Amino acid sequence: MGSTAVSILSNITAEQRKQIDHIIKDSEGTPGRLIPVLHETQKVIGHLPPEIQEYIAVRLNIPVTDVHGVVTFYSLFSEKPKGKFCIGVCKGTACYVKKSQKILDKLEELLGIKGGDTTDDGKYSIEVLRCLGACGLGPVMTINEKVYTRMKPDRIKETLIKHEEWEANRDECS
Ligand code: FES
Repeated sequence: MGSTAVSILSNITAEQRKQIDHIIKDSEGTPGRLIPVLHETQKVIGHLPPEIQEYIAVRLNIPVTDVHGVVTFYSLFSEKPKGKFCIGVCKGTACYVKKSQKILDKLEELLGIKGGDTTDDGKYSIEVLRCLGACGLGPVMTINEKVYTRMKPDRIKETLIKHEEWEANRDECS
């Protein structure tokens, strides 16, 4: 591996780099390996900042513009770190029919950010999700790992407050 590839990575730990190198090595010979490599790498560091995209491009010997194109095309990938509270809104067909767009609009209005973004203080992120398998209970919203069903725009603020309290209490008890 060239020193160029290594010097790109100043913001991750040695352990994270080891894991990313392992992911890349494991993908050798796999056709279309870019997406799985990006997916696994995002699991390791939580997002895919430009320097990681550059590192992967160098290691896979492909143009960085190709890597960047894939990262920005798929909503699954994020260039920025996620907020402490990551709020997902399902826009699968059933939730969409049940007006999940109104949930997303209200969230964007309340938090002052767009879907896919994180607030400047790093507290909240909004993600647009595909079907979560709870279609009969839509529109569905998630906050971190918790699922909230039959959401209504006027319940969002209260749900956020209650969720934050719930996580704070859970952390105190653990
Ligand atoms: S479409 Fe939203 S849970 Fe299935």
